Amino acid sequence: MLVRNREESLIKKAESRIADLTQLQDAGLICKHGDFFPSVHYPPITMYSPITDEELFSGYTVAEDGLFDVYAHIPFCLSRCIFCHYPVQLGEKSAEKDQYLDALEKEMDIYMDRLGIDQIKARSVLVGGGTPTYLTLNQLNRFLDFFVQRLDLSTCQQFNYDVDPVTLIGSEGIERLRLMKSWGVNRLTIGIQSLNEDTLKKMNRHHGVKEALASIENAKELGYQVNIEFIFGYPGQTLENWIQVIEHAVSLGVDEIQLYRLKIEAYGDYQGPIKRVTEIRPDELPTLEETLMMKQVAINILNEHGYYENLRRVFTKERKHYSHYAHNQCCMLYDQVGFGLTAFSSLRDRFGLNTQDFQEYYSNIAQGKLPVNRGIIRNREEQMRWAIILPLKNRSVWKSQFERVTGVSLNQVFRDKIEALKSYGLIVETDQEIELTELGKFFADEVAQQFHHPDHIPFPRDAYAQGLLNPYAHSNP
Ligand SMILES: C[S@@+](CC[C@H](N)C(=O)[O-])C[C@H]1O[C@@H](n2cnc3c(N)ncnc32)[C@H](O)[C@@H]1O
Ligand code: SF4
Repeated sequence: MLVRNREESLIKKAESRIADLTQLQDAGLICKHGDFFPSVHYPPITMYSPITDEELFSGYTVAEDGLFDVYAHIPFCLSRCIFCHYPVQLGEKSAEKDQYLDALEKEMDIYMDRLGIDQIKARSVLVGGGTPTYLTLNQLNRFLDFFVQRLDLSTCQQFNYDVDPVTLIGSEGIERLRLMKSWGVNRLTIGIQSLNEDTLKKMNRHHGVKEALASIENAKELGYQVNIEFIFGYPGQTLENWIQVIEHAVSLGVDEIQLYRLKIEAYGDYQGPIKRVTEIRPDELPTLEETLMMKQVAINILNEHGYYENLRRVFTKERKHYSHYAHNQCCMLYDQVGFGLTAFSSLRDRFGLNTQDFQEYYSNIAQGKLPVNRGIIRNREEQMRWAIILPLKNRSVWKSQFERVTGVSLNQVFRDKIEALKSYGLIVETDQEIELTELGKFFADEVAQQFHHPDHIPFPRDAYAQGLLNPYAHSNP
């Protein structure tokens, strides 16, 4: 009875978000059909044109301090999760993994050659996937050996790995964790996704709750900074079973808890199975209102237990716990290099994206060419948009940084947009910075998209109401 009362009170408290949704849809901020588009890069990576590596690097020089945030991608997984839109190879595929690691090593050398350097001075490191730990211990050791050899880690602040739970459990999992530790890895993001058995089954995850909990325990025991990720708005989830998941999550003593709203339509080239699944069983999908309430309920539970939003979507007890890789790239706008299939590089005014096709990846590298196939060199206006969108979405826009990056004062551009967003209580402005309010943080993607060029707004003009916050209105800087 007590549990029921608590659930009811949490749900009641979250209901105010439905009124916000209606108001902001009428204003044109949120599109009428209610779908969303994650603002991760600007312009969105689906909107780039073909580019050669010569074009990408023409006129680019390494920053004065020589530092980069470094990413490596390893696209192999045990099996396909229903929600996942990443191109990955499934199953053991040991020979292919060796071939891939050969190519990755070579790619790093070609890249360093391009930049005219013989080691990469790393500010932070992230290895992701796929499941970058889904390698034998020998393969993992081999990868870390050639990877770390090519990095200068003397001033590196953080070495992250994005992993799934299965590779961190049992005696082999513990050995893997020890091995990574010995190479300097100090933070793990573990894709827990849910702590409800039925939801995990519906996701086709290759682990249950028991394995998920064991992976967290092992990572904590070995002294890693631990971030765990969850998806909400998933078929079969209800407000009640989601509350139980988050209440369980806050009891685990992890440093960071990260929330993702389920994205059904792909935002890359590969469409994951989730779209088909929701077409077959549409009634299992929570409504938009329920999904937003799930987010608010989770925020309330997290806050009650001392977890507050730090970097966007990530809730921590201590301010010092966050992904340096994400902070450096999205808030500080520092240069970043990426290696591997689908990896990207963000280099001041330019962005290059590697191919998503395994054969093209291998063949480019065999010819001594970088596997970049799409990208953009932003003009001055797009650079201004990028320098506001990423920091605003993820933390806040420091006016001095905006001016340093663009050469323009933020007090002189985007004034109509800024005033409109202020009038709806979505952002606040001081002499030093612009940041999202609580309401703005809740709808951070849509607020960030206010600053998109009309050619890069995720949904067509008529998908939004004709209010003051229609993203196509007042779109000139
Ligand atoms: C790059 S993915 C890799 C995760 C890792 N391979 C795993 O399975 O645990 C990072 C996170 O994005 C989230 N994610 C992936 N696909 C998603 C989708 N379609 N909608 C919402 N979140 C998603 C998941 O929480 C996932 O853990
Ligand atoms: S969610 Fe992670 S484990 Fe699942 S298929 Fe995608 S990358 Fe692989």
